[in-house]
Amino acid sequence: MNWQRNLNPVKNINISNEKKIFNGIKGKIKLNEPLKRHTTFKIGGRAKFFIEPKDIDDLKLLLNLVKRNKIPIFIIGRGSNILIGDKGIDGVVLRLSSRCFKSFTIEKIRLEAGSGVMLSQLLKAAQNYDLSGLEFLTGIPGTVGGALAMNAGTRWKNIGDLVENVTVMDYNGNIKTLDKKDIKFSYRTANLSKYIILSVSIKVFRENKEQIKERIEKYLDYRKVAQDLSKASAGCIFKNPSGYSAGRLIDLCGFKGKRTGDACVSKRHANFILNKGSAKANDVLKLMDLIKKEVKNKFNITLESEIKIWQ
Ligand code: EPU
Repeated sequence: MNWQRNLNPVKNINISNEKKIFNGIKGKIKLNEPLKRHTTFKIGGRAKFFIEPKDIDDLKLLLNLVKRNKIPIFIIGRGSNILIGDKGIDGVVLRLSSRCFKSFTIEKIRLEAGSGVMLSQLLKAAQNYDLSGLEFLTGIPGTVGGALAMNAGTRWKNIGDLVENVTVMDYNGNIKTLDKKDIKFSYRTANLSKYIILSVSIKVFRENKEQIKERIEKYLDYRKVAQDLSKASAGCIFKNPSGYSAGRLIDLCGFKGKRTGDACVSKRHANFILNKGSAKANDVLKLMDLIKKEVKNKFNITLESEIKIWQ
């Protein structure tokens, strides 16, 4: 399956020696970092290196070093749409969370936001300046970069619909700005995977603060009723197959409440798998397999994972 990547488990070697590879990096470097600290699922083994570059030059240097040393590199945002294997990542996990990647500016009806900005912050800032258009993102736990990479959204709208342009860096350290017409956004995906997203320019429109607030509350209420936010999860697990709701199909197969280890299908929304305490990635994968088989069996529909799986 192309949504599963095969990575080697973190080896038991003296990695502090290997840290020297990254001499010159000014940002934070953590060794053997538990990735469950960085995912909304609260699941995931350790990353051999967890690196937060300080600025653009630091990021360029990092890309150069991983390339030269043939170290795999993976980008994580808020970790909200991802399942990381229990054996961890034998490579670098990169997060753009330093100040340089978290700035945003507002100019008339345009927002320019760094990829490390949280969607919730962006929404708040827009609301404060009487700018609307982003409310549908209410309650989606993610960063701007993560949201763009997977064209996050709802039934009503996706973030790609608002984009004017996106500034990216390729893996050779070259920066360019892609115009909206050069980016292909589709359902929960965008053709940006060969780049590191640095920032985005979004077009919004003027509206009264109170009206914006009302709409945000409506979206929040919908989420509270329809979705299960009581425990750690990664949001919807499967994409909706064209013309169907994955949640409804899984529900009709009787999976609500079905448990494997500490991973459990939500009783409220069957496309949510909850971590009831110390679920392992393998518990989730087993549950996903059972669900896929049964939905295929009963409806002849192949469910496709919405969450990214690193293992
Ligand atoms: N339904 C059931 N049983 C369930 C779940 C849903 O019968 O267990 C029914 C609902 O009653 C409704 C229909 O299925 O008639 C659709 O359900 P819902 O309104 O919850 O929307 P969804 O299609 O399951 C999608 C997105 C959500 C997004 C909501 C609202 C996907 C996979 N899911 O959910 O996105 O929040 O619409 O816009 O596209 C996410 O991407 O992580 C996510 C949660």
